[in-house]
Amino acid sequence: MASERTLSIIKPDGVEKGIIGRVVSRFETQGLKPIAIRMKLLSRTEAEGFYAVHKARPFFGDLVKFMTSGPVVLMVLEGEGAVAKNREIMGATDPKKAAEGTIRKDFATDIEKNTVHGSDSVENAKVEVSYFFPEIDIQQYEWKKLAK
Ligand code: CMP
Repeated sequence: MASERTLSIIKPDGVEKGIIGRVVSRFETQGLKPIAIRMKLLSRTEAEGFYAVHKARPFFGDLVKFMTSGPVVLMVLEGEGAVAKNREIMGATDPKKAAEGTIRKDFATDIEKNTVHGSDSVENAKVEVSYFFPEIDIQQYEWKKLAK
């Protein structure tokens, strides 16, 4: 499997719950390397643009309101099959349907306050990564990880 990049967002509920470290730790321990990280309070225009594919959905207004209600943590994660792996680590969009041991099962409140966002395809990952991160803000480094 090829090395991929994917966009991850810790949503306002995740930041508010004080679990930034625990979320990042799950990615790192499961082979997804953060290569860009930034905390940001999204503007309404930024959130609307980011979620433009959902514009016609009934939850769009609430989604934008929630995503601009507090700071988020934007990250680029890199690794083998990173897009699918990130989705596996996050769990299903609706935390009620999320598998045991996933971020959403363990931390999310409901389908809106579902703690994390992750790109849903390799194609969308490219668009989403470049939406928030110019190439110059993405780092390359080698892992020399601790055994434990
Ligand atoms: P996310 O992966 O960020 O992509 C779109 C978001 O819309 C999704 O996670 C949910 O948090 C949110 N959302 C709110 N209501 C719904 C719904 N009924 N179906 C799907 N997504 C929803």
